[in-house]
Amino acid sequence: MHQSVLLNEALDALRVGPEGRYVDATFGRGGHARAILARLGSKGCLLALDRDPAAAAAAAELAVNDSRFSFEATAFSALADVVRSRDLAGRLDGILFDLGVSSPQLDDPQRGFSFLRDGPLDMRMDPTQDESAAEWLARADEAEIGGVLRDLGEERFHRRVARAIVGARAQAPITATGRLASIVAEAVPTRERGKHPATRTFQAIRIHVNRELEELQSALAQAVDLLAHGGRLVVISFHSLEDRIVKRFLRSCARGADLPPDLPITGAHHGATLRLVGKAVHPGAEELDANPRARSAVLRAAERL
Ligand SMILES: C[S@@+](CC[C@H](N)C(=O)[O-])C[C@H]1O[C@@H](n2cnc3c(N)ncnc32)[C@H](O)[C@@H]1O
Repeated sequence: MHQSVLLNEALDALRVGPEGRYVDATFGRGGHARAILARLGSKGCLLALDRDPAAAAAAAELAVNDSRFSFEATAFSALADVVRSRDLAGRLDGILFDLGVSSPQLDDPQRGFSFLRDGPLDMRMDPTQDESAAEWLARADEAEIGGVLRDLGEERFHRRVARAIVGARAQAPITATGRLASIVAEAVPTRERGKHPATRTFQAIRIHVNRELEELQSALAQAVDLLAHGGRLVVISFHSLEDRIVKRFLRSCARGADLPPDLPITGAHHGATLRLVGKAVHPGAEELDANPRARSAVLRAAERL
């Protein structure tokens, strides 16, 4: 089961109206999608995307029973192409991104995301994509591994962990999550309270293998022009690297072009394409009690000018 994070907050930020046209770029198990459909009337529509085949299977079931809903199994970096092919470009009332991995992905040891349950070291959201985590760890050199752990995991001990990985793989290929978790646990000299020592390494490798930050940059840049005037862009992030990208992107769109100060143009927002809506939203105490995975979630929203 996936417990949708910031569900009502996302619906409010999207301002779902009965005749609206929406995109859910991260279907997962359809928690947000179902809630959007519940607010739509017969003339509204929802298009969802996800690159995970298990999400696609869940979406197929929903599509059979609801003609307002359609789904495309793809990475969201193809957002503009998908939306254009359905003649919805510039006509969307809202686009939602609920980033990262779903609970079913994390909880299924066969997917290779979990440092708590042993399984094949895969970590691909789309298993048809070229390189698994094990394949990358087998081929990357120590400096590349260390750089990924530093930049995408903010791992203090990135050098030590990279050295330990390269040392261990010389003994035998690292193909299981359990083995990677214990290599990291041995290499990291101190523990962060309440965190498994491999948390940062697993996060970094997952983000790298799935090109998560590149996907996000690309999709955000495409999203703005797909919205109708007044349409809402809503993004839920789960770590600071994502949130920084979202925050900077929304602010730069809200600021508009950086023009030389002597141009005879009035108004501070010349060229702005978005207006920020409210402040960053975090889960309340009740949601955190019910779902500890919501801990690091942040929602940001903006409206197409
Ligand atoms: C946090 S879950 C979404 C949960 C969903 N909102 C729900 O309520 O069930 C994130 C989903 O986004 C998908 N995803 C992440 N990055 C993606 C990308 N670049 N392209 C397509 N899908 C992606 C993952 O496969 C995962 O199913």
